[in-house]
Amino acid sequence: MCGIIGYCGPRPAAEILVEGLKRLEYRGYDSAGICVRSGGALRVHKRKGKIKDLRAALPDRVDGELGIGHTRWATHGEVNDVNAHPHTDATGRIAIVHNGIIENYAALREKLAEEGYRFVSETDSEVIAHLLASLYDGDLERAVKQAVSLLKGTYGIVAMHADEPDRLVGARNGSPLVLGIGDEEMFLASDVTAIVAHTKQVVYLEDGEVVSITSADYHTTDLRDRPVDKKIEFISWELEEIEKEGYAHFMEKEILEQPESIRRAIQGRLDMEYATGHLGGLNMSRQELLNVERVKIIAAGTSFYAGLVGAYLLESVARIPATAELASELRYRNPVVERNTVYFAVSQSGETADTLYAMRELQRKGARVLGICNVVGSTIPRESDGGVYIHSGPEIAVASTKAFTSQLTAFYLFALMMARMRHMGIESGLSFIHDLEGVPALVSEVLSRRDALVPLARTYAGAGNFLFLGRGINYPVALEGALKLKEISYIHAEGYSAAEIKHGPIALINETTPSLFLVTDDGLRDKVISNMKEVKARAGKVIAIAVDGDDEVDRIADDTFFIPKTHELMYPFLMVVPLQLFAYYSAIELGRNVDQPRNLAKSVTVE
Ligand code: AGP
Repeated sequence: MCGIIGYCGPRPAAEILVEGLKRLEYRGYDSAGICVRSGGALRVHKRKGKIKDLRAALPDRVDGELGIGHTRWATHGEVNDVNAHPHTDATGRIAIVHNGIIENYAALREKLAEEGYRFVSETDSEVIAHLLASLYDGDLERAVKQAVSLLKGTYGIVAMHADEPDRLVGARNGSPLVLGIGDEEMFLASDVTAIVAHTKQVVYLEDGEVVSITSADYHTTDLRDRPVDKKIEFISWELEEIEKEGYAHFMEKEILEQPESIRRAIQGRLDMEYATGHLGGLNMSRQELLNVERVKIIAAGTSFYAGLVGAYLLESVARIPATAELASELRYRNPVVERNTVYFAVSQSGETADTLYAMRELQRKGARVLGICNVVGSTIPRESDGGVYIHSGPEIAVASTKAFTSQLTAFYLFALMMARMRHMGIESGLSFIHDLEGVPALVSEVLSRRDALVPLARTYAGAGNFLFLGRGINYPVALEGALKLKEISYIHAEGYSAAEIKHGPIALINETTPSLFLVTDDGLRDKVISNMKEVKARAGKVIAIAVDGDDEVDRIADDTFFIPKTHELMYPFLMVVPLQLFAYYSAIELGRNVDQPRNLAKSVTVE
């Protein structure tokens, strides 16, 4: 989604802004722009398209040490140069960038238009620039506070005024904003990736807070002008982690990082003496954990599928009733919060609006919500009652891969911990740990076989539709495989329980709709094989991901990719990797933009 960067310091702002926007590209966007104060005036350069288009349109030299920049992901108004940010007021003395949605923009626009303010774009954001112009009396910070008090909706805003050469003002409500503290320079950004090259000291703004920066200083207040003391935090990410380091795409890099990222998610979280998991950040006493009678998981997209695996695991391993639900649905159905229930909000970015608002709704009703998140300092972990950081490192590709396997790891550790506090004996605990610790090496083994997936992707890249079919704990993995394929290759793909195809989807089967089956060596194997035969009997092509040595599956399938044998509960880790790679190679075969697929955003901060 949209990205923001602001700079205030002694260096030429334009290059810092453009470079920061480049680092925000991964969030997904359709236009970009910057505004730099130069010679006492504000100069705006903005373009539909990519950062390289913006860069190409910039004059050879852009002077000025104060500026703001933005990548836009259109919500209100088509994708064109005029609707791109920054937006200015009619005099061109005030400029703003905005992430989020202003819900009452139509009413504000009408009122301002009646007062003579002339609008040029179709965006909701432009209203903020005119509102500031109507309120400005020589103090930008005061005007921002007055303006945002009139806004309904979500915003992360940064504003500048031509008459204030060393000041930017930022405000936040529902859309992240972070302050970066440099050496005689300050930054504002929607996401630390934009500024990590310059500073590792950051301050995260909360909703209702305003920050005013100069190159040498900053202060934070609430909307009623009361000072707010903020903690300075340190970003642990290294710059290299957000660079491709020789890989063709971030997605490839992130898929290949999984043995290491899973290992990191496990690291320091196993207690071998008591054969259990140890998750320090849950903020729950032993008694509170013992009292848990039910687990409910909320999330969106890939994180939701990780939650489905987690729910399956918690029931089967820890014998705790568990369900996963789409956060977007839970929020609006007035959920009943039961006693002794623990909720998990799962989110790679920690900023997904659907998940965040569902979490707040649950908390309002008294629920305890724990986060399972990747981005340290993001909103969900900050507002949750405790939780687990998965430590995957930055995930830049829009299609989530390594975060999924690390989210699974968090659930495996939690399930182990809960099981050991209940019925699970020490021997079974040790055996579970042994299997879990074996996962990274097995994922490496799967990755070492990846070349076999290239011709497979080539063979099937022409398919218009795909079915992904799995059972039991691998059913959510089939859903995830289908999501990956449609996200980055644009091939229509649906995931189902293999058992469900006879209830409808089998009608789609013909020689042009392939089915990809996940076949493990568990109690459901023979049933899945029957489903494969049903597809074959209708001239459907069958691809199987099967366990080493399963010759029967290989005989039935048109194509088989083998994964190593493991404990049946560990297969989701091994099954999902070939599906990620299959989607990746298919997308490459079709010439798609792998890391930034059309219409998608990495961090979905609007509803
Ligand atoms: C994953 O490939 C998707 N891009 C998307 O479904 C994503 O998982 C979803 O938007 C949730 O994001 P989150 O984990 O950051 O909350």
